Amino acid sequence: MTHRGVLIGCGFFARNHMEAWARIDGVKIVAVCDTDAAKAAGYAAAFGAEAFTDAGAMLARVKPDFVDIATTVQSHRALVELAADHARMVICQKPFAETLEDGQAMVAACAARGVALLVHENFRWQRPVREMKAAMGAVGSPRFLRLAFRHGYDIYANQPYLAGVQDLALTDVGLHLFDMVRDLMGDVTRVACETQRRNPAVTGQDAFTALLRHGSGAVSSVECSFYSVLDPDPFPQSLALLEGDEGTLELTAGYRLRLHSRTGVREWDVEPVCPDWGARPWHLIQESVAAFQAQAVAVLEGREAGAPTGAHNLETLRLTLAAIDAAKTGKTVEL
Ligand SMILES: NC(=O)c1ccc[n+]([C@@H]2O[C@H](COP(=O)([O-])OP(=O)(O)OC[C@H]3O[C@@H](n4cnc5c(N)ncnc54)[C@H](O)[C@@H]3O)[C@@H](O)[C@H]2O)c1
Repeated sequence: MTHRGVLIGCGFFARNHMEAWARIDGVKIVAVCDTDAAKAAGYAAAFGAEAFTDAGAMLARVKPDFVDIATTVQSHRALVELAADHARMVICQKPFAETLEDGQAMVAACAARGVALLVHENFRWQRPVREMKAAMGAVGSPRFLRLAFRHGYDIYANQPYLAGVQDLALTDVGLHLFDMVRDLMGDVTRVACETQRRNPAVTGQDAFTALLRHGSGAVSSVECSFYSVLDPDPFPQSLALLEGDEGTLELTAGYRLRLHSRTGVREWDVEPVCPDWGARPWHLIQESVAAFQAQAVAVLEGREAGAPTGAHNLETLRLTLAAIDAAKTGKTVEL
């Protein structure tokens, strides 16, 4: 049985979605849509799909099993609400929403119709992160996590709209990091945060440092900078140090995972395989898109609930908005 999908938003990142879908058995993206007719036509020709410029017209005509939304955040609510009337599963790119109200409306629209809603949070699906999660049992109860995404890569070349985003680091990569932290360490009860504008050529805050307290009592420190001078630059890797009562896991540059225990250190390679359609250093992200999408098929087939769901991601949005608030007010915010 083939699951028939459609893609909305034929921009920069959607190419990764399309390449990955094309290699997943039992899935066919039958139609693509972009308000820019040339972009829709380009993806349709490259991937053997039908092209549309109007999402409503496409959904009414094609009646897909699932809708993959790869547009920027401003369009998400209208498109998710529309898609919920036409498919069994909706996938929405991050950032899920700009406001809790929009996020709640999307979750409610899908829940009311029994439609599965996933947010395309691929960082937790990166191989080094999956491996770290799988090895966590060896360090005992997790007590502390330091997660850092610091680099100087020119993200504005492929995504020029980012240069005008106010709370850039928190809303672009911060929410990926918060999703990973919640996945590894559990829910957050309070947050303090400092933001910085480092790059004089952008208008928003392109760096932040957040301090989180978890329900378990564990503490996490989350850092992000888009204007660090590092050689070698670890982009696009996230580096981590996770301490438990019995040991420590360390994710270092060059895709090395180190397990420190009371009897010594074990170190192994966690570099993802570069997909045949991919290229370094993007293979980290490209492989994670394929892993995320493979589990989306399991959701369609009723084998998994999906991670993260819209409802789960709503709490990550709440945390991100709380971090923005904490940075603006200089106060710790309770969740
Ligand atoms: N998960 C990741 O690792 C990752 C990486 C990069 C970007 N992203 C996210 O992906 C999303 C898209 O980013 P991008 O850089 O590809 O943006 P982009 O601007 O290159 O592409 C978005 C496309 O959506 C189209 N579009 C907008 N509204 C539409 C509508 N109502 N109907 C049909 N088409 C519409 C635009 O014309 C554009 O072609 C963003 O939310 C971004 O944060 C995620």
